[in-house]
Amino acid sequence: MRIAMIGSGYVGLVSGACFADFGHFVTCVDLNQGKIDALKRGEIPIFEPGLDDLVRENAAAGRLTFTVGLADAVRAADVVFIAVGTPSRRGDGHADLSYVYAAAASIAEAADGFTVVVTKSTVPVGTGDEVERIIRATNPKADVVVASNPEFLREGAAIEDFKHPDRIVIGTEDERGRGVMAEVYRPLYLNQAPIQFTDRRTAEIIKYASNAFLAMKIAFINEVADLCEKAGGNVQDVARGMGLDNRIGSKFLNAGPGFGGSCFPKDTLALAKIGQDFDSPMRLVETTVAINDQRKRAMGRKVIGACGGSVRGKTISILGLTFKPNTDDMREAPSIAVIQALLDAGARIRAHDPEGMAAAKEILTNIDYADDPYEAATGADALVIVTEWNAFRSLDFERLKSLMKAPVLVDLRNIYRLAEVEPHGFTYESVGRPVRTPIEHALAAAE
Ligand SMILES: NC(=O)c1ccc[n+]([C@@H]2O[C@H](COP(=O)([O-])OP(=O)(O)OC[C@H]3O[C@@H](n4cnc5c(N)ncnc54)[C@H](O)[C@@H]3O)[C@@H](O)[C@H]2O)c1
Repeated sequence: MRIAMIGSGYVGLVSGACFADFGHFVTCVDLNQGKIDALKRGEIPIFEPGLDDLVRENAAAGRLTFTVGLADAVRAADVVFIAVGTPSRRGDGHADLSYVYAAAASIAEAADGFTVVVTKSTVPVGTGDEVERIIRATNPKADVVVASNPEFLREGAAIEDFKHPDRIVIGTEDERGRGVMAEVYRPLYLNQAPIQFTDRRTAEIIKYASNAFLAMKIAFINEVADLCEKAGGNVQDVARGMGLDNRIGSKFLNAGPGFGGSCFPKDTLALAKIGQDFDSPMRLVETTVAINDQRKRAMGRKVIGACGGSVRGKTISILGLTFKPNTDDMREAPSIAVIQALLDAGARIRAHDPEGMAAAKEILTNIDYADDPYEAATGADALVIVTEWNAFRSLDFERLKSLMKAPVLVDLRNIYRLAEVEPHGFTYESVGRPVRTPIEHALAAAE
């Protein structure tokens, strides 16, 4: 198969490289000349484990090429994937479809012979109809089928997810379109990946419903964490007790500072807006959005509480800036709201992240950056773990204590236990787990 991938961001680049690895011939297209030039030189613009080798090998084998020339790539293609961004539209939170529609118009002008145009971007229900309308209006003679094929990969495990998906969803009722898509994914379903054919609108809804459901699970366990803190209880044990019920499942039940990233925040918001537009309100999703928005800043207040109620003039050290480990993606990262709350309260911030500092420097311009956790902790009044990078899982607490001004650790990812940290003389706070009152701390310290 000859594939054109329009948009060479996270999804486009990973999908393109994986399709090439299956043996297809893939041209990755992007508007961004700098990104394409870098890719041609073998430089990968994002941090994603294993992606550099995959791109290099398939480029060397002649199956993966990069260009800004959309028209030539589309003309030569049997299948054209649209993998451009669908960010939140400024002002109203609807999915911004301008990139998708612009790509559709360009594709229409160039399509030659039978072509399947596939929306891989996450798009509201009905977008496929509009893409088809644009293509037919721009080029009435084009022999095109428009399908939906939402992507479920996770950043940080993107290649593994793409090559071993839980399911492949293909939304088109056109037989020729289904035949081509089955061929594109043949290497995967030979490996037993379930392939689900649906109509186009159903496929579009599956993606938003899946993301919103996972986001809802996170928001739910975060509220349970708050209850544990108030009522006495351990959210990790609650989550385990819930997750062992396989109707519930254990995944996405880790309490923390709220969900971030390039998908859940914008997709939950967009689904809430879609529901309103169809006069079918998604109230659980609307509430999930509200819970999560409030939670990130509340985590800033939690840090302030751990510092005795004020951080004015204090230095707070932040470990982890990206929205999750194994990515350099800073989009909607909880760290941004946590740090802003601390800055608003008069703190100075010194932060470290293993991969995300270059991206963070574009967003968080008024904080200091450190090369490692110990440099970040030097002279700090508190250390806050915001992202659970492996590099933070075995910190040398004796060394940290000798460097810090005050031994206070706020672990927003619950990667430690009180019993591991407290013997080193730290005041330790985490999320949804038993907290010691200041008097209990004093008594424990006196023992
Ligand atoms: N990032 C994820 O983990 C993930 C997972 C599943 C689905 N998605 C969805 O996939 C879509 C893409 O997400 P992403 O994270 O890869 O976005 P991204 O911002 O990383 O990449 C989008 C790319 O498209 C390019 N582009 C925009 N318009 C173009 C055009 N007309 N022609 C060529 N290139 C164009 C941009 O320059 C950019 O490089 C979104 O709808 C997103 O919701 C993302």
